Amino acid sequence: MRPCLTAFVGLSCALLAACSDGPSEDADRVREGQRVYAKECAACHGARGEGAGPMSLQLDVVPPDLAGLKQRNDGYFPREFVSRFVMGQLAKDDPASPMPDFFAVGLRHVYPNGGADGEVLETDFANLLDYLEAIQW
Ligand code: HEC
Repeated sequence: MRPCLTAFVGLSCALLAACSDGPSEDADRVREGQRVYAKECAACHGARGEGAGPMSLQLDVVPPDLAGLKQRNDGYFPREFVSRFVMGQLAKDDPASPMPDFFAVGLRHVYPNGGADGEVLETDFANLLDYLEAIQW
């Protein structure tokens, strides 16, 4: 009976592991990230990260495409750079850049009445990065 039990436990663990972080959860995170992107970034960076969204007309500098970040970075998605850039932790080339510091202003369009912080925001930002990674060429 013992090998059978071992096999059963092994299989259950494998199934559980697959369930806890399987493709459908990845898809959920990307979908949630898209929701945040649509509200906070699309006006400037385009509906699918292609750059030059509708708000560009009001800006002096055209927001770059975000779908080509990986291509511009030798085929590697610069997750850490994007995360820090969005959170205002990196110096900007142009100090007058209209790109918001989201750490300072928060996700104003997702939570117009405030009220979200800590783990909620961390999850939103992680989902946003997953979405951006998913739309790379
Ligand atoms: C008000 C317009 C505006 C909004 C909203 C905005 N951005 Fe930007 N973003 C810019 C502009 C303009 C630049 C280029 C100038 C600069 O680097 O600061 C830029 C640059 C960037 C860059 C650097 C790209 C590169 O190739 O170096 C990243 C990454 C980025 N934005 C991500 C985001 C994300 C993610 C959001 C939403 C959470 C967002 N931006 C919202 C205007 C905006």
